[in-house]
Amino acid sequence: MGETKEVVTMERNEEGGWVVVKPKPNKKFGGKAIDWLEKVIVKLMYKSNAPNCPFLSGNFAPIHEETPPCKDLPVKGYLPHKKIDVERKREKMGMKEENGVARIEGGVVVVDPKPQNGVAAKAIDWVEWAIIKLMNDSTKPLPFLQGNFAPTDETPPFKHLPVIGHLPECLNGEFVRVGPNPKFAPVAGYHWFDGDGMIHGLQIKDGKATYVSRFVRTSRLKQEEFFGGAKFMKIGDLKGLFGLFSVYIYMLREKLKVLDTSYGHGTANTAMIYHHGKLLALHEDVVKILEDGDLQTLGMLDYDKRLQHPFTAHPKVDPVTGEMFTFGYSQTPPFATYRVISKDGVMQDPVPITIPASVMMHDFAITENYAIMMDLPLYFRPKEMVKKKQLAYSFDPTKKARFGVLPRYAKNESLIKWFELPNCFIFHNANAWEEGDDVVLITSRLQNPDLDAIKGTEKDEQRDGFTNELYEMRFNMKSGLASQKKLSEAAVDFPRINENYTGRKQRYVYGTILNNVAQITGVVKFDLHEEPESGKTKLEVGGNVPGIFDLGPGRFGSEAIFVPRQPGTECEEDDGYLILFVHDENTGKSSVNVIDAKTMSAEPVAVVELPKRVPFGFHAFFVTEEQIQEQAKM
Ligand SMILES: [Fe+2]
Repeated sequence: MGETKEVVTMERNEEGGWVVVKPKPNKKFGGKAIDWLEKVIVKLMYKSNAPNCPFLSGNFAPIHEETPPCKDLPVKGYLPHKKIDVERKREKMGMKEENGVARIEGGVVVVDPKPQNGVAAKAIDWVEWAIIKLMNDSTKPLPFLQGNFAPTDETPPFKHLPVIGHLPECLNGEFVRVGPNPKFAPVAGYHWFDGDGMIHGLQIKDGKATYVSRFVRTSRLKQEEFFGGAKFMKIGDLKGLFGLFSVYIYMLREKLKVLDTSYGHGTANTAMIYHHGKLLALHEDVVKILEDGDLQTLGMLDYDKRLQHPFTAHPKVDPVTGEMFTFGYSQTPPFATYRVISKDGVMQDPVPITIPASVMMHDFAITENYAIMMDLPLYFRPKEMVKKKQLAYSFDPTKKARFGVLPRYAKNESLIKWFELPNCFIFHNANAWEEGDDVVLITSRLQNPDLDAIKGTEKDEQRDGFTNELYEMRFNMKSGLASQKKLSEAAVDFPRINENYTGRKQRYVYGTILNNVAQITGVVKFDLHEEPESGKTKLEVGGNVPGIFDLGPGRFGSEAIFVPRQPGTECEEDDGYLILFVHDENTGKSSVNVIDAKTMSAEPVAVVELPKRVPFGFHAFFVTEEQIQEQAKM
């Protein structure tokens, strides 16, 4: 309130002339006498044995305490965003508009899709409903929405979590893991890969832990919130003729501008990486870790409009040069494109990589001088999706696995050398380096993969056709010959290393052990200086396996991240900790476990009990305190 001025007996506010409410009741003798008189009249004339006043009982009854602002209330359904709020927010964020694209600091694009809920939207909804009614078997269970695959609500920062053991100082920062968490129920099918990205974070500060979970606020999520239901295409629907209709429905929504895909259509549910002061939830959504550990989606990165193709979930940051190397694959030529992003966040020109057909290319690798692209025979064949009622990507065992080794600063693909090995598929590589004329790749190799086999149910036969084994592959740059060597029994994936050694020769790999239902039962450490023990039929300690951390019956984990005790390569390579989310199906509770990576002791260094269930998910990342401070400047 500004200064006041006296107007007769009233005080008025300077601005607008509002009357300042300042009554002056008199509690002296006159007031008390009237109170007494009122009591007498009430006693004589009012039936005090009459039923209580109905307007003071039930939910008419008053509450006697005021409520200060109570934030982050649970919301079922969605609250439409008012345009005015968005605009105010933008002003606050220092947003600039360039060529019709709104950007905030750091070149981050403000994601503001404009879906349309008009007659066309309603008509397409109706057609979709009719097709689902006619063609979809609604009695079919959706296993990826059940048990610990089921989605959960967001959790604002939940502080002072119970810690059993102690959280070492090098863990100051935030451990994040992303995974699929559909906000809206699917209209028909649902695959694990379909859910909206939700990040689960554990902020650690001086031995204290705070848990938070937030959706990545993608264009896709914002638009489905606008409609209040699922509208984007789902992998779980893409089978048979119904799959074809699902594609047409989506194309129609896009064509008639019911959905706005100018900010992409990704879920950002797969992986996270930190580069140039930004934490990215891939595909390319920029997430900021706030002071209290909370996670805020700032927008999207398009590298100043230079990024015009898909972006892998597995870019590599060179720990020495600070550059980020990446690629994208697509269903149209060129089927793959390689990119380099400088330490300062500048994306260099695209390098198209010519391959014969559209394949799934989930990962790649770098060495100090090369990038390794993988042309593996998991083909995009939409016709087979319709004919054979299978997912659009199918493995062709008649074709070879091809690996292209490209000088990492190549301006075009003319210097790429292609190597052939027996057919396989690879989701994830551990690392690569150069050794004399050899380029060495350590990877998790699958024979005869079948994406349909990942069903999320106890009874699937994934193990029969989906065995992930650790392999060493060598590509000789002089002879042009390739060789490979098996390093483990099944089933190992999500291989991680001490990332201070990315692209350099190193010794230890930490993988997760998968059971037959795509669940993680433990963490295995490999010593690449040792030979695998012969005669083994399953993963056991011995030979090149110095340790296994078994989670025990009914306990399932997610990707384990190695956090070194000290930055750089001064200390021993395995001197540090492995950190991972764990869900206990016996108790229904989740936790974060910290393991000593050197000893792989069965006794965790720390267990942080979480207030809520953390569903199974995909990749994790550890953001250091220094990185959090750096991104705070944004
Ligand atoms: Fe991945």
